Amino acid sequence: MMTTTNNSTNFLPEKVKIVEVGPRDGLQNEATMISAADKISLIEQLADAGVSYIESGSFVSPKWVPQMATSTEVFNGIRRKDGITYAALTPNMQGFAGALAVNATEVAIFGAASESFSQKNINCSIDQSLERFLPVVEAAKAKGLKVRGYVSCVVGCPYEGDIAPEQVARVAKKLFEMGCYEISLGDTIGVGTPDSIKTMLLAVNKYIPLNKLAVHFHDTYGQALTNIYAALNMGVSVIDTSIAGLGGCPYAKGASGNVATEDVVYLLSGLGIEHGIDLNKLLTAGWYISDKLGKQPISKVSNAMRAKLND
Ligand code: HMG
Ligand code: MG
Repeated sequence: MMTTTNNSTNFLPEKVKIVEVGPRDGLQNEATMISAADKISLIEQLADAGVSYIESGSFVSPKWVPQMATSTEVFNGIRRKDGITYAALTPNMQGFAGALAVNATEVAIFGAASESFSQKNINCSIDQSLERFLPVVEAAKAKGLKVRGYVSCVVGCPYEGDIAPEQVARVAKKLFEMGCYEISLGDTIGVGTPDSIKTMLLAVNKYIPLNKLAVHFHDTYGQALTNIYAALNMGVSVIDTSIAGLGGCPYAKGASGNVATEDVVYLLSGLGIEHGIDLNKLLTAGWYISDKLGKQPISKVSNAMRAKLND
């Protein structure tokens, strides 16, 4: 991979892909119901800001995740822009059928490195989940759709505590071998610090090249930006983020949202790394959805810029 040096010790990618998960991961855990029209507006604003990959919804049980019940309406209502990926989460064939019906650009399957989390999140064991994902991957391939794979709890689990890096590597390897083009490694409860993140990435990298990995860090303990910086220095160049730092995980008590897109874009700009996003438009999108939710963005950059504007 091409790298750029900003001093003698750092090796950073020239370009980073931001995977915006706010409309899905962010909103799925917000108690205030957001209408399909407002979700559509958010997604269109993100696209206009230059975000090229937007996880726009999920096809899961509405009893389990009520906020995602409008995903069909959302996908059908988006004024799509060329070159943008509008992705959907699909846990099984029923979910895949939903994503196919609305012409999602690609789909994502989501497993876990922790048995207890797998049971709580998708009601089956890790091995059962892998069995369920296989037909989804096969069906997606047959339709020419790419499949992204998630692994949750890559450092810690809300029920089991520390998770062995080798266990993360085992699940990531299975998803990669199954045909996922990229594996997103989720620190679901945000407990990692740079050393544990590096150890985990090295374990996964025994089987999967770094340029096929993404990092997906929830910011519960305020470590996400630091951990992203560590991952960038190892050669990871895909980062999952959530507009205004929205969300959490319904099956990980106390988990706060993903790292805010605004904060990561600010970091990347400061490091001279290309990301293709217009920060001002991004900020406006973040304020839009935060106002709809009646809360402040969970983004230092967003709040600092808003205060400056109101000065
Ligand atoms: P289940 O109850 O085991 O499924 O749920 P089932 O096959 O036994 O079916 C039971 C009922 O669910 C049936 O309906 C099915 O039709 C329905 P009923 O006959 O009772 O009326 N059903 C579905 N409905 C809609 N869409 C579907 C679907 N499948 C079955 N796809 C299931 C299994 C996976 C569906 C359920 O456990 C579920 O929806 N879980 C929610 C999972 C979820 O969305 N979690 C949050 C996202 S993951 C995450 O946030 C982590 C991540 O961000 C990375 C990180 O941070 O670590 C990705
Ligand atoms: Mg997540």
